[in-house]
Amino acid sequence: MIHLDYTYALKRKNEGGIEEGELEDVLKELEKINREIQEKPYPFMELPFMSYELEEMKELAASLREKPISDVVLLGIGGSSLGAEALFRAILSPEHNLKHRPRYWVLDNVDPITVSAAIETIEKEKTLLIVVSKSGETPETLSQFMLFKEILEGVKDIKEKIVIITDKKRGLLKRIAEKEGYPSLSVPDGVGGRFSVLSPVGMFPALIMGIEVDEILEGARRMAEHIREKRREENIAFVLSALLYLTDKKGKKNHVIMPYCDRLSGFSQWFRQLEAESLGKEGKGPTPISSRGVTDQHSQLQLYTEGPKDKFIIFIYVPSQGPIVPQSFPYIHEISYLSGKGLEKLFHSELKGTMFSLVEASVPVSEVWIDSISPYTIGALFYLFEMAIVFFGRLLNVNPFDQPGVEKGKMYTKALMGLEGEESLKKMIAELSREKFTVSF
Ligand code: PA5
Repeated sequence: MIHLDYTYALKRKNEGGIEEGELEDVLKELEKINREIQEKPYPFMELPFMSYELEEMKELAASLREKPISDVVLLGIGGSSLGAEALFRAILSPEHNLKHRPRYWVLDNVDPITVSAAIETIEKEKTLLIVVSKSGETPETLSQFMLFKEILEGVKDIKEKIVIITDKKRGLLKRIAEKEGYPSLSVPDGVGGRFSVLSPVGMFPALIMGIEVDEILEGARRMAEHIREKRREENIAFVLSALLYLTDKKGKKNHVIMPYCDRLSGFSQWFRQLEAESLGKEGKGPTPISSRGVTDQHSQLQLYTEGPKDKFIIFIYVPSQGPIVPQSFPYIHEISYLSGKGLEKLFHSELKGTMFSLVEASVPVSEVWIDSISPYTIGALFYLFEMAIVFFGRLLNVNPFDQPGVEKGKMYTKALMGLEGEESLKKMIAELSREKFTVSF
């Protein structure tokens, strides 16, 4: 159901591609790494099998859905929101918020204008708030939560309409949930934000929005089995990981993920964080770029084809059905080639055309083909890309599970907001702010 075509990432078909011998060596190496990993799996790998808090989630979602919900507001950032958003965009229809209830709001930013717009639009009496933070200490999420708590004050049964998803034992959010008596779910031990989509972090918001969570987990399980059992070039995660690693090694330091499927735009944002935050450390790591076909053919493609030869492009394609372009202007012969053909044909021809132009320009490309978008295939995709990044991390010799750079940024924000302590950071900020070079209009 998910196919990876890497023909045009190989030197035999593309000047800028990789040698088959190099690929074989890396696949062999990955087989060894996989044996080690499977013997002692990372906690996120177990999520599809352990049904972590699944029954609690289902019960809670069912009881909440008994009463009308008009708006689901998810407060969270990074790994605490991108997975749920990817799922909503992939599974719910593009016009979901216009036509259906509950609407969803993923507030992953503290831009005052966006937050105010959400506050003004939601039906407060029928709003469900889901607050997600593994650490329970992230300033963006905490301040949003404090704001929404105030705004929803006075709403009937408000304590039942705020669900907290955070660490089992630690953090400020945990303390608040206990003190206030909000229903809460937890992020399993050892599972960090960007690897947590298959835990309550992604699964509970999905359940609330009526998405088939059992199917998502089933897709992930089948992918996990494939990765455990398949050998070398038959293992889709090995091949994907090897392509990412080898292209990076050959100086293709920008990895463009370009779905020709708007419903996967959230997925490519999720992948962007996964690759960047997992591998960007110790001076290593590619820069992931999220692009959109066909739109970005008219924005980025010039750079991809004729700019620096530092890119590897992964297209994602999902066949779909759509309207046929009519023969609206029969007297104009020059556009007759478009008439009578489905938009679908144009969509795919655009992808192929773009791909061949890149091959001619010696830019390595690959295509992930997905038969259809469903909870099952999305579950499998999440698992596939998570594993590919973990393998890539092992090949690069970096720990894909920490994010010291992000934590540093959080500390600076807290210092700037006046948190007590952190004197050395405050000194550093004062020092850096002393002399400025600006220009104004
Ligand atoms: O993937 C990660 O670990 C990060 O992106 C975090 O999810 C993000 O920084 C938010 O952290 P938290 O979930 O602790 O609020």
